[in-house]
Amino acid sequence: MSNDDKYPTESGRRRFVKGVVGGAALAGVGTTGAVAVNSATTSSGAGGGSTQAMAIENTGGPAPRGMPQIPVEIDSDGNIKGVWPEVQEVTESGVTFQVAETENYNGSDVTYSSEWFQYCGVESYEGIKPDYESENFFHSGANPAYTWQQDTYSEGDTLNISDFEDYRSWGNGIGESGLGKPATGTWRSQDSEDTIPIQVIRSPLIEEAAQNDPWLQASTSQGVIAWLNKCTHFCCVPGYKQAADAAKFNAENDVYCQCHQSVYNPFSVVETLFVARPRPEE
Ligand code: FES
Repeated sequence: MSNDDKYPTESGRRRFVKGVVGGAALAGVGTTGAVAVNSATTSSGAGGGSTQAMAIENTGGPAPRGMPQIPVEIDSDGNIKGVWPEVQEVTESGVTFQVAETENYNGSDVTYSSEWFQYCGVESYEGIKPDYESENFFHSGANPAYTWQQDTYSEGDTLNISDFEDYRSWGNGIGESGLGKPATGTWRSQDSEDTIPIQVIRSPLIEEAAQNDPWLQASTSQGVIAWLNKCTHFCCVPGYKQAADAAKFNAENDVYCQCHQSVYNPFSVVETLFVARPRPEE
């Protein structure tokens, strides 16, 4: 069977695989078959398979890869939003299902897909369904780790750029000050039992890096970068400058997972290839 038989022309995935990764690159890691096998599982839940995501880099510990980025937009009132990809229907092998996927996201040449978040059980969360209704803003969670955030927000408040004005000097005694100002929160979880944990940092390093990087330019705004805050090792929720013992693992200026000491660099965004889990059948 030729590749053309395996990937019907309606499939957004096929364009993604060829356009972004390249068939040869995928063949090199032995995952080409997984795309065809896993890409259409049911008529309601679907997706999964070999996925290329943009992620904050994993630099230490047992985690297999970085945590996926959530592209950010800031509205005219300063509210910080995590963009959700475009919802569309695709038909593969005679099965029609919904996907949330934006090709060439903001002219960056990257295909942004909700499959980036399909690991660690998140694939079964309400908010990961392509058509889950949400305004997509980031909301402050119940017990934020940062004193500034506890003092500024109540649970459910929307994170707002005006509260990050001191991002060039902020510090909390862990690691260096001035790298950026962090907050934790939730996304697409307002009317759901499942909480999707996110973290953001507004950083001068991101602001600078975005000037010469089409993807960062497309996916960050005013120095704000965001990611799904689920460790890719065993799914704990890591933190940036939240644990004093991060210094023992050289991670006082990084995102650190206390469970088994994985370290992520939030100022380094890389492409990661992994096998996303399909959304469950409904
Ligand atoms: S390092 Fe094991 S769950 Fe994060």
